[in-house]
Amino acid sequence: MELLKLSLVSKRYAADGPPAVDGLSLAVEQGEILALLGPSGCGKTTTLRLIAGFEAPDAGTVTIRGQVVAGPGRAVPPEERGVGIVFQDYALFPHLTVGDNVGFGLHRLDRGPRRERVAQILELVGLPGFGGRYPHELSGGQQQRVAVARALAPAPALILLDEPFSNLDADLRSLMREEVEKILRNTGTTAIFVTHDQEEAFTLADRVGVLHAGSIEQLARPEDIYHHPASQFVAEFVGAADFLPGLVTSAGVVTEVGVFGNVGDLSLGARVEVMIRPDDITFVPHRDGAGIIIHRHFRGPESLYCIRLPSGHRVHSSQPSSSMFPIGTRVRAEAHVLHVVTFPAAPRAGG
Ligand SMILES: Nc1ncnc2c1ncn2[C@@H]1O[C@H](COP(=O)(O)OP(=O)(O)OP(=O)(O)O)[C@@H](O)[C@H]1O
Ligand SMILES: [Mg+2]
Repeated sequence: MELLKLSLVSKRYAADGPPAVDGLSLAVEQGEILALLGPSGCGKTTTLRLIAGFEAPDAGTVTIRGQVVAGPGRAVPPEERGVGIVFQDYALFPHLTVGDNVGFGLHRLDRGPRRERVAQILELVGLPGFGGRYPHELSGGQQQRVAVARALAPAPALILLDEPFSNLDADLRSLMREEVEKILRNTGTTAIFVTHDQEEAFTLADRVGVLHAGSIEQLARPEDIYHHPASQFVAEFVGAADFLPGLVTSAGVVTEVGVFGNVGDLSLGARVEVMIRPDDITFVPHRDGAGIIIHRHFRGPESLYCIRLPSGHRVHSSQPSSSMFPIGTRVRAEAHVLHVVTFPAAPRAGG
């Protein structure tokens, strides 16, 4: 069952300005966790605010549980939408204690059960005993966790999280992620969370929506977003991608780093751009190699090499972090592509 549906929703902040959200449509199933990914300013926060009711769309409709909550002549106020939200800037009430912040949406409970629920949820976010403090007495990451606790406390049917873990260090982040996912899954809560972290989106979400300039460019399972990106924009946004010119022949798509089979319904003779991921490229040092290592980025668990090919195009190759080839090393580079992803060739500058 669809819990939430946006149909052709648009929103402009200034009458003569560009749309922040532009004809956006999406549907989220009951119990589903959806991640929204996209560059800064593409409309992620605005989309959440439209769903929660803090902004009204100029066009289109928002439907929650089959009821239109925003649309022509209709605007259900935020408090009647049953939606929990964690704002990007936390937006805690500064004059209320942590306990009162978290208990804010629990006015229907008596004092005893409310206090119990607050203590339970603070424990869950790793802040037991913090109930008496004020927001200004907390670190940024602690405030962020209080905001998550406040949104989860009333057990809303739909929860919107705007970069809820952005201020936490890597360990705490993955811990919180697991805890929050457990709560969402155990309670069947539907969630939309915004993140800049593609890995986080892939780990946590059932489906990922990639936003570009106010509309959804692709909405699909993480695996499909990564392996079958619908556009070059999506391909580059989710993980590193290089593009090499290719020619479709009966033997496959011919590129500088190999010939890839399975041309599908591409027409013979067509010129295309072939997507190459760093994990597709292997290389061996060779005196007569045509490629040259021009960069090595150490990234902790892996090293990312940049190799310049004779044409001037560059490809990246991810290698174990223990691998150490100096810049300037000549190499033979080769791609092993499982599914060939191509885009129509556009006029481009080499390199
Ligand atoms: N209150 C506002 N008044 C005018 N313009 C706004 C307002 N809020 C956002 N915008 C503009 O609308 C566009 C979308 O903003 P939004 O906050 O939704 O982006 P975002 O995807 O959440 O970005 P970020 O990743 O940086 O948080 C941006 O161009 C932004 O400048
Ligand atoms: Mg934002």
